[in-house]
Amino acid sequence: MKVGVLTGGGDAPGTNAVIRAIVRKGLKQYGDEIVGIKDGWRGLLEGDFVPLDQETIRAILTRGGSILGFSRTNPFKLKDGVERIRENQKKAGIEAIVVIGGDDTLSVAHRLGDYGIRCVCVPKTIDNDLSGTDYTFGFNTAMSIATEALDRLRSTAEAHHRVIILEVMGRYTGWIALESGLAGGADVILIPERPFDVREICEYISRRQKRGRNFSVIVVAEGAKPKDEKEIVYSDGVDEFGNLRLGGVGYYLGREIEKCLDTETRVVVLGHIQRGGTPTAFDRILGTRLGLAAIDFVHEGKFGCLVGIQGNRIVPVALKDVVGKRKTVSPELYEIASVFFG
Ligand code: F6P
Repeated sequence: MKVGVLTGGGDAPGTNAVIRAIVRKGLKQYGDEIVGIKDGWRGLLEGDFVPLDQETIRAILTRGGSILGFSRTNPFKLKDGVERIRENQKKAGIEAIVVIGGDDTLSVAHRLGDYGIRCVCVPKTIDNDLSGTDYTFGFNTAMSIATEALDRLRSTAEAHHRVIILEVMGRYTGWIALESGLAGGADVILIPERPFDVREICEYISRRQKRGRNFSVIVVAEGAKPKDEKEIVYSDGVDEFGNLRLGGVGYYLGREIEKCLDTETRVVVLGHIQRGGTPTAFDRILGTRLGLAAIDFVHEGKFGCLVGIQGNRIVPVALKDVVGKRKTVSPELYEIASVFFG
């Protein structure tokens, strides 16, 4: 079978492990021909393809990024998007596509199903906010990098008696903030699911100061917002899927804390450091398992499905149960974390 592979959205460590697994098993077990589609849906719109063989995937397991490139191109933004995709797919003889992406990329795959384009999807996003799967690959790496940052910030915060705020990614959900905050012993964790009150945060810091702990480390997701206010944006404008470009909540918070308390604050925005570089062992293994299952799904005809991982078992999940159904941090989980605040 001739199978296309594309990687869409923002990059996530472990993507190359998925591609490698698809190619290795596709060639070896099924005798497939595998075609890489460059830069997500852009490559399909423009017929930008590259053959994937044993040679092209050599030594990519440990590499960050994607050998195919990423983009946030949305074919449904174009009048003739679907037509162009069908034409290019037909011309190249691609019979099925493995789509590696997050909610935006998968929403396109889901809609293309109505036009007879056969897709199997692999859950990718450092935000870990896809439904139908316990984990997306890339999350573990991002969360580990954020944890290490918290460990490092704690010692300098303590040495200078400061409040240090670490701003991490997480546009709509606080998985990175929550889990790195738990692992790194953050004194306050702020997530988009739970709008915050600056007075409450200052109360936590004061409580620590009264115990002689005159430093604090706070982790905040970029999408966290003050109660009754909007999220803080880096710039106006949205991408092709309507997503805002967030950033700056850490600085907002630092200024507000300094207004309330006689404490010096510093802010660190982790940014794309948490998305770049080599994946953790966990993400290499998860990516490998998802890639192997994806090529099996193609041959089993499980189109319109996500390769989900639930309780360590690979399961097919219909895209209609995934797309637009964000997996958020539950109030119960946040309560567990809040035991350690202040
Ligand atoms: O989609 C994952 C994500 O990492 C979000 O957490 C973040 O808001 C966004 O991508 C940043 O995207 P870009 O690299 O396009 O600025």
